Amino acid sequence: MGILKQFSPDHDFALKLDAEDQLSAIRSSFYFPEKNTIYLDGNSLGRLPNKTRDLIKNVVEFEWGTQLIRSWNEGWYELSEKISSKIARLIGADANEIATGDSTSLNLYKLAIAAVNLNAGKTRIVSDELNFPTDLYVLQGIASQMGSDYEVVLAKSSDGQTVPMEELERVVDENTAVVVLSSVAFKSAFMYDMRTVTEFVHSKGALIIWDLSHAAGAVNLNLHDAGTDMAIGCTYKYMNGGPGSPAYLYVAEHLHDKLISPVWGWFGEENPFAFNLKYTAAAGIRRFSIGTPPVLSLSAIEPGLIYCLKQGCSI
Ligand SMILES: Cc1ncc(COP(=O)(O)O)c(C=O)c1O
Repeated sequence: MGILKQFSPDHDFALKLDAEDQLSAIRSSFYFPEKNTIYLDGNSLGRLPNKTRDLIKNVVEFEWGTQLIRSWNEGWYELSEKISSKIARLIGADANEIATGDSTSLNLYKLAIAAVNLNAGKTRIVSDELNFPTDLYVLQGIASQMGSDYEVVLAKSSDGQTVPMEELERVVDENTAVVVLSSVAFKSAFMYDMRTVTEFVHSKGALIIWDLSHAAGAVNLNLHDAGTDMAIGCTYKYMNGGPGSPAYLYVAEHLHDKLISPVWGWFGEENPFAFNLKYTAAAGIRRFSIGTPPVLSLSAIEPGLIYCLKQGCSI
């Protein structure tokens, strides 16, 4: 409020804000070859941390180039869990509730279909008009695969910026299986009160999946405090993981054994290196993993994530 009152659209005022910026010290930790570019697209692709350049060189030349397949036993196999435990700290979850791998879209598919099957008999899937299109497409695809009884219903935004609680109360009913919302809307930066919405969704007997792509690393999150069932999010925005870096998914521990992933792969199997002919789901969060993790881009997530954890979030 203070800053808005004094706001002035001139160069001196911009310099004054720069001087007061608590994050300015970490500018030099990022790769800035073009001195005069002002980059405002970290909400789409975060900048490259200097540490990531060095780390990727080491992963390529030493871990892959020199150690070759030995690297699977020297860290690659546990890499996903290592990254997941740091993401857990950032979003207020436990390490055993996060799996990192696949894209946000695929992670949503896995969790939303598992939620719909857990709430068998309920045929409504709810989202809102501010949600990112891939989420809506994934949900539409699920509804069409489940059968003609299923429908995707969107809470409306009359101003294109916000979705009032009354609108969610209008569309989420006792027939709702799952609600999928972005905690921060990509279109307007509108933020839901996650705890209030989650409590309301639970009161109707539905499950909730929060998309944290525009929130994690930018605003304070605590999935446990909010009572969240499930969440998904990307790592290439405010976690600076790089183009196409793998996404994560969260499932509250009490739901692990109740949800069945629709995609069964060997990395989600109880004992992948037994090469069993018949699939048995791994206990816990690993049952939501599918196949071999993308080691290069998974490795690249860590330095940006460490900056997020060190800096904390101010909102
Ligand atoms: C809220 C939200 N969900 C999902 C995605 C994209 O998902 P994916 O990583 O599958 O491309 C984005 C991309 O910007 C997004 O903003």
